[in-house]
Amino acid sequence: MTEYKNDLDFASELDKQDELKEYRQLFHIPKMDGKDVIYLCGNSLGLQPKSVRAYIETELKDWETLGVEGHFHGTNPWLSYHKMFAEPVSRLVGAKPAEVVVMNTLTTNLHLMMVSFYRPTQTRFKILTEFSPFPSDSYAFESQTKFHGYDPEKAIIELRPKEGEYILRTEDIIAEINKHQDELALVLLGGVNYYTGQAFDIEAITKAGHEAGALVGFDLAHAAGNLLLNLHDWNVDFAAWCGYKYLNSGPGGVSGVFVHEKWANSPSIPRFAGWWGYDEATRFQMKKGFKPAYGAEGWQLSNAQILPMAAHKASLDIFDKAGMPTLNAKSQLLTAFLEFLIKDNMQKRGEESYNIITPSDPKDRGAQLSIIAAKNGKEIFNKLTKRGVIADWREPDVIRVAPVPLYNTFTDVWRFAKLLDEAV
Ligand SMILES: Cc1ncc(COP(=O)(O)O)c(C=O)c1O
Repeated sequence: MTEYKNDLDFASELDKQDELKEYRQLFHIPKMDGKDVIYLCGNSLGLQPKSVRAYIETELKDWETLGVEGHFHGTNPWLSYHKMFAEPVSRLVGAKPAEVVVMNTLTTNLHLMMVSFYRPTQTRFKILTEFSPFPSDSYAFESQTKFHGYDPEKAIIELRPKEGEYILRTEDIIAEINKHQDELALVLLGGVNYYTGQAFDIEAITKAGHEAGALVGFDLAHAAGNLLLNLHDWNVDFAAWCGYKYLNSGPGGVSGVFVHEKWANSPSIPRFAGWWGYDEATRFQMKKGFKPAYGAEGWQLSNAQILPMAAHKASLDIFDKAGMPTLNAKSQLLTAFLEFLIKDNMQKRGEESYNIITPSDPKDRGAQLSIIAAKNGKEIFNKLTKRGVIADWREPDVIRVAPVPLYNTFTDVWRFAKLLDEAV
């Protein structure tokens, strides 16, 4: 454990020693009054890699000069464009290349996954999820249960933290799974809860879900590009995530999907199908009768969205160069430094002005800290914004900050903690 000090020189020294320090200059950092803002919002929208423009330009040029021929003779032929993602995305989430595909957007993919993996029966029809899942997930659960003819009130179980607590303990999650073991069709949680920043024990939850006879999936919106993931070995049935948070692929960017290899060749699994998921060798014979491609690719519906995918490619190339283990190691230091500074400032002032609701143990969190001010939270947040901090506010009372290892510095974190202290 690093012994942190609460001063700017110490933060600058950590920046000098940072083996990822060159990566910040690969990104556009927004400015305020001519100075870089303190951008702590990569858990909402990651910053733009400077290379994105050239990646998109390449595709625009091919479209301009080749028209439809770009599908075959483009720099990166569009016909097989999605295949370029199999290797880098598999490294990102700990999967086999055939287990991942990039397509659509997150909520769409969660629905597509539930069409396949939420298969309720009269006795086993419930979905178990985390306390206060992201609203889009809630609406997806609600509409899926209704679609199958069930009452969402009865079919959705939300895990509740203990009275006065924010965090769900793994043993309590497992106990709840066991309690409902005869009625669970699906366990579907976030990898990291968007509000508290708690990272769940994906492996333990998956195991418990399977032992209860349910299928288990994860919404990894806040986990992909943030946590070290090992989806294949953890035996997760499916997962989906978006590309625009930690993965820096632009607003509304494409989403990733994981389907475990054990389901790769199961044409019997119900799914909503489209031509791009059709067996590649015979896709263009245009025959009736859907024949899925092997693996996650078989869930594709439409031909690839080349322009947003080009932005995704630019970002994934950076991830591949940096490597998730190195990124995660820095992320843990950055977040721990931020936590230390906030607590140290409070101690010096002798006032419990803030409560950090994100778990303290690095294994139970990623890059985010969720901070609740004892009073005037929204005013404090607005003051921070005026002073050049971009973080985010989530109703009813949380300031979320995410120091991202690719482009945030230890100095950013030190400056933010000071501004937070001054804002009380
Ligand atoms: C946890 C989580 N799930 C789902 C979504 C919805 O994503 P999309 O709008 O890409 O469908 C978000 C968006 O921020 C999210 O944070």
